Amino acid sequence: MESLNNYLFKYKGYVFAKGETTGEYIDSLQHFEIRDSDVFLVTYPKSGTIWTQNIINLICEDTTDKSKFPNNLEKMPWLEYREGRPDYSLRASPRLFATHLTPTLMPPGLRDKRGKLSIKAVSYAKSKMNNYFNKYYFVWYFFLNRFCLVEASMLSVSFKQQIVYVLRNPKDNAVSYYHFSLVWAKLEKPKSFEDFLQQYLAGNVGGSSWFDHVQEWYTKRDQYSILFLSYEDMVMDLRTAVEKICKFLEKNLDDAAIAHIVEKATFKNMKKDPRANYEFIPGDLLLKPQFMRKGTVGDWKNTFTVAQNEMFDQIFKERMKNIPLHFIWDLD
Ligand code: A3P
Repeated sequence: MESLNNYLFKYKGYVFAKGETTGEYIDSLQHFEIRDSDVFLVTYPKSGTIWTQNIINLICEDTTDKSKFPNNLEKMPWLEYREGRPDYSLRASPRLFATHLTPTLMPPGLRDKRGKLSIKAVSYAKSKMNNYFNKYYFVWYFFLNRFCLVEASMLSVSFKQQIVYVLRNPKDNAVSYYHFSLVWAKLEKPKSFEDFLQQYLAGNVGGSSWFDHVQEWYTKRDQYSILFLSYEDMVMDLRTAVEKICKFLEKNLDDAAIAHIVEKATFKNMKKDPRANYEFIPGDLLLKPQFMRKGTVGDWKNTFTVAQNEMFDQIFKERMKNIPLHFIWDLD
């Protein structure tokens, strides 16, 4: 564990806020048992996490949720922060988790699951085939592999856990993160936006580098069952984003239920919703109730200087040259 300053430490190449988790706990995630029904929301900080958390919670809501969980954070806690909660292995299924972690630090079971399930599926298919063909060895031998593969692939599809990954234009992301650093007591207050931007580009902020985060998840996407969404997509067409998430999570909601979720997830309504707006965070931690600050696209234009913008574009081009992401960063 390497201390970066009074507020941050680096562990296994990833930067964490001090006092929120430990290297031992992060290591313990390597043995964290994944369930088939688990759902993970993965983001780089300030990319629309609590917004998507609200949407997924509403999609997966059941009638007992309001009595069981006082707010969205308790229903979908952060994987990397236990914060005095009971062991996550004691939670009932389906479990929902948010996380800012990179694939390397995530429970390996999430990645291995497809392989494991395929093996499970193959042995299931083999035993099934055995019953049919044990008297006709040659027929069994001839058909075995082909049939097993078909069955295995069908079964492994239905057993995968799901990951929703939300990313945001890094310029807006940096501006949002800068404002958040001014109000979150566990982060160093930047002297200026320029000062923050240098730290952000160097990856010396909680969550490390935006570029590494997006790159690592994107290049390893084939190992997971993952839906990529952008914050900008969500702003542009919230209903379509909600429908995409429903489809991905295999939740068949009718039109009225979807309309209800969209209504509750608009910036204006969510900001008033005490279960979702994070105003439940104590004042000594969140100095101003500003998790929901502006909720717009393109706010970077009010903050970046021309020189900062040019420098950022140059770095973006260089760092993302192998990532063919075609998200709409700006809506105008
Ligand atoms: P701004 O600071 O630009 O306003 P995170 O949840 O990952 O910390 O991201 C916080 C950002 O998401 C903030 O951006 C916040 O305003 C925005 N956000 C939260 N809820 C939103 C909503 N319902 N609609 C649009 N943006 C939302």
